[in-house]
Amino acid sequence: MARTTSGRQNVLAFQGAYHGMTLGTMSISGNLGPKNALGSLLSGVQMLPYPHNYRCPFGTGGEQAIDLNLRYIEQLLSDPESGITAPSAMILEPVQGEGGVIAAPDRWLQGLRRITQERGIALIVDEIQCGIARTGKMFAFEHADIIPDIMPLSKAIGGGLPLAVVVYREELDVWQPGAHAGTFRGNQLAMAAGTATLRYLKQHAVADHALQVGERLRSHLLKLQSAFGWIGDVRGRGLMLGMEIVDRDGEPDGQGHPPVHTARARQFQQACLQRGLILELGGRHGATVRLLPPLIITDAEIDFVATILFAAAAAI
Ligand SMILES: Cc1ncc(COP(=O)(O)O)c(C=O)c1O
Repeated sequence: MARTTSGRQNVLAFQGAYHGMTLGTMSISGNLGPKNALGSLLSGVQMLPYPHNYRCPFGTGGEQAIDLNLRYIEQLLSDPESGITAPSAMILEPVQGEGGVIAAPDRWLQGLRRITQERGIALIVDEIQCGIARTGKMFAFEHADIIPDIMPLSKAIGGGLPLAVVVYREELDVWQPGAHAGTFRGNQLAMAAGTATLRYLKQHAVADHALQVGERLRSHLLKLQSAFGWIGDVRGRGLMLGMEIVDRDGEPDGQGHPPVHTARARQFQQACLQRGLILELGGRHGATVRLLPPLIITDAEIDFVATILFAAAAAI
């Protein structure tokens, strides 16, 4: 849609991004495993650094990294010798999921909104994983008080039924009838389920609940981090949290943080599974323990999860 509307080809995307497994979406994703396997992907994609505070591409982290990041991108788009022709779109996840649970700072998102708006670049905010109340707002971009141009939604919006939605500014829809068709578009049962899901989430203020129980879970994770030195970083937003598992004895990186410890992350995952708790590993080198509990989880259930996490951590 962004290419059709703007007549431009290039798309800006971010390191660590995950947007899917089609040829198009893999081309704008970070993970090299599946990309290498395919060989040729779509051209006209420029990957940019994402503000990863703990593994900062600029080696600084903090507020300074946000400034450097925005400056880099703005300079790239202003430089007549950047080598990159004017892009049609910039796509990002407000909280990177598969990349390792990395929440974009609000100020960075606001900066990108300004930069894209000034240059007529469509800002596509992928809310497929972080959207629908998970981070404490219906959509994660709302924390930064910005409005994107295009927003793909999926996963939670179907309430368990297969539903994917693209929300966009009306003026971007210059597609002719039939220009973007598909057999399984507009499944009525899934749309009814999606409508009911949105109604339920609003009526029961599930986003507020996610924020509140998410803080409870985060405080447990921070205690776990204080007790076990091999948890390098606790991060995320609302009920989308992660812990990066590190090797305390390894050579620190430029920021002074120890390297990841994938084997220990797997041990921890197994120890939790043996105690009845299913955890996903993700992020770089599969060393980030991911916590994505159901949005309706209760305080008591969060505390129960925490007892398992402590018991598993003590056992490995
Ligand atoms: C942020 C994000 N974008 C896109 C996708 C891809 O969605 P689908 O699997 O429906 O193609 C995913 C799936 O995990 C995702 O997490």
